[in-house]
Amino acid sequence: MIRKPESFGIVKDTEVFLYTISSDKLIARISDFGATIVQLFYCDGDNRTKIVCGYDSVEPYIMNDSYMGAVVLPCANRTRNASFKLNGKEYHLQQNDGKNNLHSSLPDGSAQAIWSVENYADNSLTLKLSYGDGELGFPGNRVFMVTYEINNNELSISYSAISDQDSVFNPTNHSYFNLNGKGTVLDHELKIYADNFTPNDSTSVPVGSICPVENTPFDFREFKPIGKDINQDHEQLIFGKGYDHNWLINGFDGSVKLIAELYSPANDLLLKTYTCCPGIQVYTANYLNDDKYSYRDAVCLETQYTPDAINLDNMVKPILKAGKWCTLVTKYAISKKES
Ligand code: BGC
Repeated sequence: MIRKPESFGIVKDTEVFLYTISSDKLIARISDFGATIVQLFYCDGDNRTKIVCGYDSVEPYIMNDSYMGAVVLPCANRTRNASFKLNGKEYHLQQNDGKNNLHSSLPDGSAQAIWSVENYADNSLTLKLSYGDGELGFPGNRVFMVTYEINNNELSISYSAISDQDSVFNPTNHSYFNLNGKGTVLDHELKIYADNFTPNDSTSVPVGSICPVENTPFDFREFKPIGKDINQDHEQLIFGKGYDHNWLINGFDGSVKLIAELYSPANDLLLKTYTCCPGIQVYTANYLNDDKYSYRDAVCLETQYTPDAINLDNMVKPILKAGKWCTLVTKYAISKKES
């Protein structure tokens, strides 16, 4: 039985909705506003644990620069000087983070757009968003599709794009995870399958180097509480006000691989993150601060290409080739660790 979508409020005279998809183990409520994951529950018998942060109505999402739960595309994270060159031509994006660009555009980006619903079934939802040539600063008439699908204890997100010119495609989902439902995540343990990360400058844009995590606070090769080293007097942590960095997955080859595991000892919940992308931005909600959530009440596990990779010749570039569909996949699997 397909459930009727529930109203989530009105944006610019248009009603937006919440769509529920589920299995016995997971329930997700997703809005067509921003293709946003508003709620995600792990179900264990009659017990439900809320594992992402979210708000009760659409209003807080409208001008929300935390990008809570939203799909960010065409290009997640920062682009230095809000510009890049592709096929010899220079393109300019919105300067919405000092001189840089962050998450493509605010308030006109994918996180604030009303997506159209292409397909809604009990366990899956497909949303679509189109941009014309030059819109948000990127080349090409483009179509983006995002499918959320739940199977047993796994939520998969499949991002597809096609463009009539070469363009940029680096999508992510910006969910704020807290496996306890609320409170700090500093006690959550994190493991990242990465021997290297990409250090930033003081504006949180990668400088282009690849740095081994060994002997740094960025070493999560074995489970470690997020709070263990977060307050160390380390330049990178000062730049980010905590973790707000990209790790490079070991053995990147474009296939879907396990990149990170997040564990809450308080309730034994384990979240495994899989992706076909080269990296992950781990962001410890260093700027989150509103009526409902504070600083470090969540951690984002944003699978992605390296921020600013389009300008960095030693990184895998997120180039969408004209006329060819490109699909990128991320999966989040949630279970009890001991079972
Ligand atoms: C960025 C942060 C930013 C946050 C919310 C993250 O992906 O890396 O620097 O504050 O998104 O916009």
